[in-house]
Amino acid sequence: MTSMIRVGALISGGGTNLQAVIDACEAGETGAQVVFVGSDNPAAKGLARAERHGIPSFVVDYGDIIRRYRQDPAGVHLPSDFDLAEMRAKSRLFPADADEAVVEAFLATRAAAENGLLAAMAAYKFDLLILAGFMRNLTPYFIDRVNTDPEDPRIMNIHPALLPAFPGTDGYGDTYRYGCKLGGCTVHFIDYGEDSGPIIGQRAYKILPGDTLDDIKSKGLKEEWKLYPDCIRLFAQGRLKVVTRTHELPGGKTMTRKVVAIDA
Ligand code: GAR
Repeated sequence: MTSMIRVGALISGGGTNLQAVIDACEAGETGAQVVFVGSDNPAAKGLARAERHGIPSFVVDYGDIIRRYRQDPAGVHLPSDFDLAEMRAKSRLFPADADEAVVEAFLATRAAAENGLLAAMAAYKFDLLILAGFMRNLTPYFIDRVNTDPEDPRIMNIHPALLPAFPGTDGYGDTYRYGCKLGGCTVHFIDYGEDSGPIIGQRAYKILPGDTLDDIKSKGLKEEWKLYPDCIRLFAQGRLKVVTRTHELPGGKTMTRKVVAIDA
């Protein structure tokens, strides 16, 4: 048997996806083991799940860093290798007309927080980092330091909608309000945008007349709990490859996108 891969997880809340992944790992279904859990939120209920399974955890309190920056920007310690211009140029998190002062505050506070995450994660060797209800966008500062080989991404996210529909923080609410007849969830690799990276896997469910937002959430989460372990297993088996595909479009245009090819 090949050795198990080591997975770190970042969470913000209840951690039901984390639980599904831990359970699948403990059942021997993924070829992976969860080796740490980190959170941006000291009150994240999912931290207790890690403890119950003997998995070490840590917290970097993003809220506290952001509050302190608002009071006194100089009081927040920026990493010595943080280059604002480089981060600004790489990040695709902001609209073209974004307020530059807001962008700068965002990148500075996140880099300070991400530096804390990286320092805590340095205690563990890991092959894959999964975002399991981690409600913070990651900046290129963090992404580049985890994806040491840009051709071989190793940060996955689960999103509660069928991307590219409904990126953002309320995938189920957006699906419900739009009147979709199918909803779903997506696991993708992280890139510099918001929920825009190469798609690894998706699962869908039917939305029936009379379904409430709670019905949609509960149908969706059940699919998430199957999808995430499946995608981790594919990663552990070395079957995920990011490839660049270019397509010719009518009018002589082309469309180029990085996609995930899954080896049979
Ligand atoms: C899940 O529905 C997950 O897809 C979503 O948060 C929920 C976390 O639940 N993630 C996002 O919206 C990320 N943008 P959990 O804490 O019970 O796993």
